[in-house]
Amino acid sequence: MASNGTNPNTTVSTDQPWWRQGVVYQVYPRSFADANGDGLGDIAGITSRIDYLETLGIDAVWLSPFYPSELADGGYDVANYRDVDPKLGTLADFDELVAALHSRGIKVVVDIVPNHTSDQHEWFQRALAAGRGSAERERYIFREGADDTSPPTDWVSMFGGSAWQRVDDGQWYLHNFTIEQPDLNWSHPEVRADFVTTLRFWADRGVDGFRIDVAHMLTKDMSEPLLSRSELDALPLDGNHPLLDRDDVHEVYAEWRRVFESYDPPRTAVAEAWVHKSRVPLYASRDSLGQAFNFDLLQADFDAEQFSRVVRDNLELAHASGSSSTWVLSNHDVVRHATRYGLPHPERDSHANPVHKHGADWVVSGGVTPQLDRVAGERRARAATLFMLGLPGASYLYQGEELGLHEVAEIDASSRQDPTFFRSAGADFGRDGCRVPLPWSATGTSFGFGSNGAHLPQPSWFADYAVSVEEADRASTLSLYRRALALRRSLQTTEQLQWVETGNPAVLHFRRPNGWEVVTNFGAESYALPRRDAVLASETLDDDGVLPGDTTVWFA
Ligand code: NOJ
Repeated sequence: MASNGTNPNTTVSTDQPWWRQGVVYQVYPRSFADANGDGLGDIAGITSRIDYLETLGIDAVWLSPFYPSELADGGYDVANYRDVDPKLGTLADFDELVAALHSRGIKVVVDIVPNHTSDQHEWFQRALAAGRGSAERERYIFREGADDTSPPTDWVSMFGGSAWQRVDDGQWYLHNFTIEQPDLNWSHPEVRADFVTTLRFWADRGVDGFRIDVAHMLTKDMSEPLLSRSELDALPLDGNHPLLDRDDVHEVYAEWRRVFESYDPPRTAVAEAWVHKSRVPLYASRDSLGQAFNFDLLQADFDAEQFSRVVRDNLELAHASGSSSTWVLSNHDVVRHATRYGLPHPERDSHANPVHKHGADWVVSGGVTPQLDRVAGERRARAATLFMLGLPGASYLYQGEELGLHEVAEIDASSRQDPTFFRSAGADFGRDGCRVPLPWSATGTSFGFGSNGAHLPQPSWFADYAVSVEEADRASTLSLYRRALALRRSLQTTEQLQWVETGNPAVLHFRRPNGWEVVTNFGAESYALPRRDAVLASETLDDDGVLPGDTTVWFA
């Protein structure tokens, strides 16, 4: 334990692995920075912004897929797991990026997409060519149709429409996501072996950790007769469901764990697992992936009762798994939190797909209804972020949230890319609005993203959120993130939290073991602060000893 120099009672635990309480910044490579001027972000673009990443004060960068891909699903359709998309650079560029990040003390996490490949993957192309009954088709999930024209079952893909696609010879293959993402057969030893090769390939190149895409979907019981959609829906999610969150997926991760532990330091992993909370510890346990995303904050409204419940539940779950909790407010799959918090609270519908729900209607309306309160949304987003950064555990940030960026609703149909848009016949506009390339400067081609436009259209209001503008403004969201992350590093302490009674249902107050305190006012009325020596606040505080609404303050 070392003193942090701020307060003699404040200590930093130096013996923790970085991932337990690190701040991980998600880069969506195709929208971060474009070095070669083709309108698409690239690896060299990320390297060119290394000073920005260092100054931000993050511990790790998570790179969404940068592998060769036809972009049927924003890169989550991987054609080759052990290469860089030529549109984004080369393996040499990747090595340079890793070296640059490491030289600034920033770890690197890459995305592994094991449930499905791209239909352009060599294996799938060979499966198509080899025909029914071939060994090549065994690596995927091919079946005969129910009759000449109908798929084997009525299963629906996550992006809408049938989960089966017919090929020329009449067989059908399973794709739980879009047509271009055929599901792999995880009962096949070659599939298992190949992913171990992939993990080693990146770990050998110095990658520190892995984010595992839809970690709960890999293994499947496809024994005949296959159940119908309604029969599947009626089954409990208890580890034996034919398609979801099966206990046997942890056999895969036990093997991966041996791979991770064979490195020094051991490589880390975080599961993207949409499972019942009682089953999250299975993924987060040390025998499995070691950490799991907790998306509860990302699904909560800006509301004290909801935030408090989410924190209590997830600290318990983390305790049960021996891992730390993770916290997420925004990522590449949801409407940005500045926008969510500027919209009225949604009607809660337990059957809705949580990933696409909040703010989706506003996007479909072109950003017109319900009316967005931009200022309130940003203010609440800053308050929520400071609340999150004070919690024990790891925080995951999504590129652009440090600028207070809003979701972009004004993308016309001809510019949309997300398969959700196409497969829902426009009923759900999907996720393009949080993937619009970042504004680096207030003027110029694509606001400094690159020298030749941006692959998704940037609205004119992006100018106000440009990095160059916010860097020059001490009151900007970017300045707040930088101060918060620097302070968080010096204040970090053991993974505990104690609630302090506020007597006000709209105000949450917690204390960490070293005296670091976080108070958030989720309401509209001011709250009398217990102390006046704030070290950080999400808004400028008047000297009247009160915490205004929609504001967080830190004491240390
Ligand atoms: C989850 C990823 O976060 C999402 O972007 C992707 O579309 C699906 N998995 C399919 O890979």
